[in-house]
Amino acid sequence: MPTNLDFTKENTHYATHGLHSYAAKCPPQLVKYGLQKYSKIGDLVLDPMVGSGTTLVEAKIHKRNSIGFDIDPLACLISRTKSKFISDKVIEKAYLAVMNKTNKDILLLQKKTKSLALIKRAASPEFPNIDYWFTKGVQEKLALLSFHINNTKMNNKVRDFLWVAFSGIILTKVSVANARDIIHSRHHFLKHQDEPDVLVKFERRILKMRKQMREFGQLCGDLKIQVNVRAGDSRSLPIKNNSIDFIFTSPPYATALDYPRAHFLAVSWMQSALGVDIKKYKQTGEVYIGSERGKTQEKIYDTKLGITAQSVIAQLNGIDNRKSRLVERYFHDMACVISEMNRVLKPNKYVVIVVCPSHIRKIEIPTHKVFTEIASSLGMKLVAQHLRTIDAGKRVLPYVRGGFGNRMSTEYVLIYKKGS
Ligand SMILES: C[S@@+](CC[C@H](N)C(=O)[O-])C[C@H]1O[C@@H](n2cnc3c(N)ncnc32)[C@H](O)[C@@H]1O
Repeated sequence: MPTNLDFTKENTHYATHGLHSYAAKCPPQLVKYGLQKYSKIGDLVLDPMVGSGTTLVEAKIHKRNSIGFDIDPLACLISRTKSKFISDKVIEKAYLAVMNKTNKDILLLQKKTKSLALIKRAASPEFPNIDYWFTKGVQEKLALLSFHINNTKMNNKVRDFLWVAFSGIILTKVSVANARDIIHSRHHFLKHQDEPDVLVKFERRILKMRKQMREFGQLCGDLKIQVNVRAGDSRSLPIKNNSIDFIFTSPPYATALDYPRAHFLAVSWMQSALGVDIKKYKQTGEVYIGSERGKTQEKIYDTKLGITAQSVIAQLNGIDNRKSRLVERYFHDMACVISEMNRVLKPNKYVVIVVCPSHIRKIEIPTHKVFTEIASSLGMKLVAQHLRTIDAGKRVLPYVRGGFGNRMSTEYVLIYKKGS
């Protein structure tokens, strides 16, 4: 019987999986399938492009230790918050303290005379087009809220939790920003009829997230299981050879998503919390695998590609030279990642990669075949390959621009075994 990996009718938001939206998030049931079939309790699991942390949450629930890397600071914040349990009492205490201080400041702002300190607390950070994306009233409240999340005494895990809630009222379908479709790469301007109430939205978000965190706590009883999230580049992992028991990852697609562009409206408010400068953050787009940005002059790569990759690059070259170079860069980047995964994995252990074939300029990009050619050149054997349907309504997926205009709707689950 074929393996059924269609989870369209299942709840994909249980435990902390729904804590924050994320583009191209994986369904938790798929990670669970991989963990249960190809790893065992107590194993060390790696996701080198961890995104919002689906792999880590499932690993914790199923009693596997885990480590996740991502190049994006917001992804690191979300994934470490989702995968580490925090008691509800601790959250409530910190949340109430922040809300009290923010509400007091809002009342003080309505008075005629304001202290300099208050004016400073209510001042927005500087970033381009702030007045276009946020009304003045929303800006004031976001500034005060972020000030008090930053400066109220609490443990850092709880602070992270509050930051995720803060980001969650901006990067969501109905945002406090003047924007819609916000988790996609390009936001569209949306003027709200009434100014969104930042504090009401924050309160609702926190209530929902607390419920999700309590559910996560009930599901992950084993406190000894470790989760580690680190900022890092999957093309060069700071991990010892032959040290990982199982890898599960869903890499970015070729030229389809721009994470820094999708995240900038929230990250702009969280620069000190995330340790980033918004100008530099927006420029980092090109170091993300799959990015459409950056120079695409001819380049000699260290990695070698198979015949499928070469044929796609040649076909595209005749139609759109820049796209052809971008796809070439993407394949070489992924060759580095697959090589790193092979290096850190113990012999005879498994890697699961979830990937979407796509179309660029109406040329089919059979990414699954390209990955398999790379893996087999490294001595990894494809032991299974499943095709599954994606629920485009549930999973935020990129539109395939320049292609057939449809959303990607099927993906491959590729399972490789490292040699002995
Ligand atoms: C499709 S998402 C992963 C989604 C994840 N499986 C989840 O369920 O949330 C791909 C991730 O790869 C990350 N990424 C892109 N280039 C990277 C790199 N060079 N090193 C590490 N992560 C990278 C992106 O920031 C993004 O979070």
